[in-house]
Amino acid sequence: MGQTDEFPIDGWDHLEFYVGNAKQAAFYYEHAFGFTRTAYAGPETGVRDRTSYVLEQDDIRFVLTTGLRPDSEPTRFPCAHGDGVKDVALTVADAGEAYRHTVERGARGVVDPHWIEDDWGRVQLATIATYGENVHTFVTRTEYSGPFLPGYQEIPRTNGQPATGVGLKTIDHVVGNVELGRMNYWVEFYERTMGFTNIIHFGDEQIHTEYSALMSKVMADGQGKIKFPINEPAEGKRKSQIDEYLEYFGGPGVQHVALLSDDIVHTVETLQDQGVNFLSTPDAYYLDAEPRVGEIGEDWDDLKRLRILVDRDEEGYLLQIFTKTAQDRPTLFFEVIERHGARGFGEGNFKALFEAIEREQALRGNL
Ligand code: FE2
Repeated sequence: MGQTDEFPIDGWDHLEFYVGNAKQAAFYYEHAFGFTRTAYAGPETGVRDRTSYVLEQDDIRFVLTTGLRPDSEPTRFPCAHGDGVKDVALTVADAGEAYRHTVERGARGVVDPHWIEDDWGRVQLATIATYGENVHTFVTRTEYSGPFLPGYQEIPRTNGQPATGVGLKTIDHVVGNVELGRMNYWVEFYERTMGFTNIIHFGDEQIHTEYSALMSKVMADGQGKIKFPINEPAEGKRKSQIDEYLEYFGGPGVQHVALLSDDIVHTVETLQDQGVNFLSTPDAYYLDAEPRVGEIGEDWDDLKRLRILVDRDEEGYLLQIFTKTAQDRPTLFFEVIERHGARGFGEGNFKALFEAIEREQALRGNL
């Protein structure tokens, strides 16, 4: 490569979810997904209109926020959209510079760059808008040693907390669903404002079933750490699953968050034991998976038992599985992924996945 990265990003900082009841959602992510509660902000820490719980597992940081007043933004968001991701926050060396760079290139500024501080040091924050009501907050935390951000209180480990994670390591990718005809707009937005490049493109001829279709382009930052696939619906005989999302979410938003594991068999087995529901895959999938994918390090019986999907590209293979939607609206879900060289997104599995999602969609009477 050898080129300089015009918009260097250190990594994923956190995902902030706006939810109807953060206290209960935190319990779900702790007990089902194996996260540990590490910090809290709310009335007890001087925040008047919301409460936020920080949950961590290895490099993954989720923040669950609920509004405390009818007119507060985190109250309105889940009324309009259901529980969902509001902020895909990115760690950068200079949040002020990241803000200026993106806003000069046409991004809409939401919160101007500013420093916040407490006894642990200081953090610079700045926020821009992206698709739907979503935002990206740039976070510079090199001068901070506290639990999360100034204003948050550390939560000491207690006996009531689950002991360990389930092997989830980091965020792999965050997928956005946008309206028909808007995919290229947002692809161009990430190119222009953050210097991302389009690393993969799927047309509707690749991702379709008998009934519905979608188009997808994957945008990645200069170092390939941050990956944003962007989907739009395509014409099919019946309603695309992307249309179902857009209808129930009330516009564009985050469709799924993929979390990387280095032992997917253990991770998925534990998640299932702890009550996480995954999409099923027909037995027929496994009849041709082995000849299609070839030799892998895992036991095929484990993959078949747990319904883990497998795919191979020129660089290696990957294993993946998708949860059912994580709230009552058929919107956000999670993916668990393990990579062995492959840098794709399981293109060979799209059809199997699509059919599995459509079985769920049909059960809801939306297909
Ligand atoms: Fe994915």
